[in-house]
Amino acid sequence: MAQARRFKQLLAILLGGVLALPAAALDVERTKEIYGPCAAGHGPFGAGGKRGEYPRIAGQSSKYLEQQLKAFQSQGRINLPMDPYTRERELPDEDMKLVAAYMAQVELPTRPPVFKASDDALARLLAMEKIMVVPRAEGDIDQGQVVYQKNCAVCHGKTGKGRGMFPML
Ligand code: HEC
Repeated sequence: MAQARRFKQLLAILLGGVLALPAAALDVERTKEIYGPCAAGHGPFGAGGKRGEYPRIAGQSSKYLEQQLKAFQSQGRINLPMDPYTRERELPDEDMKLVAAYMAQVELPTRPPVFKASDDALARLLAMEKIMVVPRAEGDIDQGQVVYQKNCAVCHGKTGKGRGMFPML
């Protein structure tokens, strides 16, 4: 009896672990729907928009995204454009988790693809929209690299990909 119960408990823990994996549980159609209103600012693939005014969120850590969405909702992080989208009625907790997990698993290219002669204008436009839209800032990139490695890399990572609660830059 006790043994069977322990087996059941173990099974529940194991299954719980599997089900907790966001990728496995993610209903892509549903999360795309939740993401719909966000696309107006952050772009259809989360690449960011308006020449960097709206940040790139594709590939950002889901924990970080969720934390920031919560902060917008509680007004701990004041952001006028985000305010109406993060109200409890618009984005309940469950949807917040889903949309954060969805954005985290979107992988975008960072360089333009090599186009084939047969690619039409729409295909080219869609492919280019996935590339980061943030304009290159004026300045000394080599010196910026030195400053970054010295002051920022310890948290945001050598290549700016972030880790854990340190966001991707
Ligand atoms: C001690 C660790 C640490 C260091 C060093 C650090 N950061 Fe951060 N950074 C963080 C954390 C943590 C956050 C998230 C803050 C939050 O929760 O709002 C953050 C957030 C950011 C954000 C906002 C990201 C977003 O879109 O929400 C930017 C931009 C940023 N850091 C740039 C930099 C730059 C540039 C440097 C170096 C000059 C730097 N950071 C150094 C830990 C660090």
